[in-house]
Amino acid sequence: MKAITITDNKPEPIRLIETSIPDIQEGECLVRMEVAGLNRRDQWMREGLYPGIKFGTILGADGCGIVEKGSAEWIGKKVIINPNMNWGDNPDVQSGKYTILGMPTNGTLAEYVRVSTDRLVAKPAHLTDEEASVIPLAALTAYRAVVTKGKINASKRVLITGIGGGVSQFALQFALALGAKVYVTSRDEDKRQRAIKMGAKDGFISTNENWWKDVLKVGQFDTIIDSTGGNSVNIFLKIIKPAGRIVLYGSTAGYPEKLDTFRLFWTQAHIIGSTMGNDLEFINMVQFVSDHGIRPTIDHVYPMNDYLQALDRFKAPDHFGKIALRID
Ligand SMILES: NC(=O)c1ccc[n+]([C@@H]2O[C@H](COP(=O)([O-])OP(=O)(O)OC[C@H]3O[C@@H](n4cnc5c(N)ncnc54)[C@H](OP(=O)(O)O)[C@@H]3O)[C@@H](O)[C@H]2O)c1
Repeated sequence: MKAITITDNKPEPIRLIETSIPDIQEGECLVRMEVAGLNRRDQWMREGLYPGIKFGTILGADGCGIVEKGSAEWIGKKVIINPNMNWGDNPDVQSGKYTILGMPTNGTLAEYVRVSTDRLVAKPAHLTDEEASVIPLAALTAYRAVVTKGKINASKRVLITGIGGGVSQFALQFALALGAKVYVTSRDEDKRQRAIKMGAKDGFISTNENWWKDVLKVGQFDTIIDSTGGNSVNIFLKIIKPAGRIVLYGSTAGYPEKLDTFRLFWTQAHIIGSTMGNDLEFINMVQFVSDHGIRPTIDHVYPMNDYLQALDRFKAPDHFGKIALRID
């Protein structure tokens, strides 16, 4: 079968290879992938900036496919896959054995993937294969950040940053579905406009040094959902309501140089970390997507052979939403 793997080759470690179709064990299924979703982590691995890279692993946490072998009740069904492996018993935090499909376990960027049967979830009926393929990792991350950690509801004023992102696009749609008043940031005016068309009240251009002063003209936020990182957390402490929640699930621009602890204790704000989500949240997220008819924002779907172009897309200034590979 064809598969996309990471090697120690330089300067380009990602390779399309020919390898054997995996054998399955008791309790596992073999899924023939139709479309695989890409995530920023795949590009972080390509850049050597992801912890614990194991060369030779087939990448990919997300996808949509048809079960070909394994449990009789699943054979022939179209599925998506919960990429959590060994979250553990504590819903608040993943166990020490936790990993994500696609590193170090072989993932979805292949013609076939072998997964535990308990990772399978039926494809939401309202979605195309391409839309379903990009749901798992990003939508789970957005769901935990918005619902569990952000505690967003119809009474909340919310800021979602870096709105061009795959996860932030889900966060926007989830917060809107909950009835919140949602504002966004982006480095790009066109993306700001697109978010407003999707239902955001307004947006701020985060490359304007004093964008946060415009926020103060319209009012502070109950909740901020962020993955842009860098020094932005100190700006958030200026625009969060007293005792508000700042949920951080990523740090694309790196770590802050300092933390304004004075504002942190004076505002009584909560800075909350969030990562992916537990298995119950995965089920609840898929149900939420179905109940609210949510359709992922797809930036681009590439043929499998164009995998490098697809990964490059994460760095494109006009990238907006999720990127996928048609496995053919
Ligand atoms: N903790 C977890 O479980 C988890 C799960 C998923 C993702 N993540 C992390 O969360 C981040 C976002 O993931 P994603 O899949 O949504 O990535 P993505 O699709 O690449 O989106 C990131 C967005 O952030 C903004 N951005 C990018 N570089 C920036 C920079 N240098 N400074 C400020 N803003 C920047 C951009 O929005 P604009 O162009 O609109 O400004 C971009 O569209 C990544 O760092 C990823 O590794 C963590």
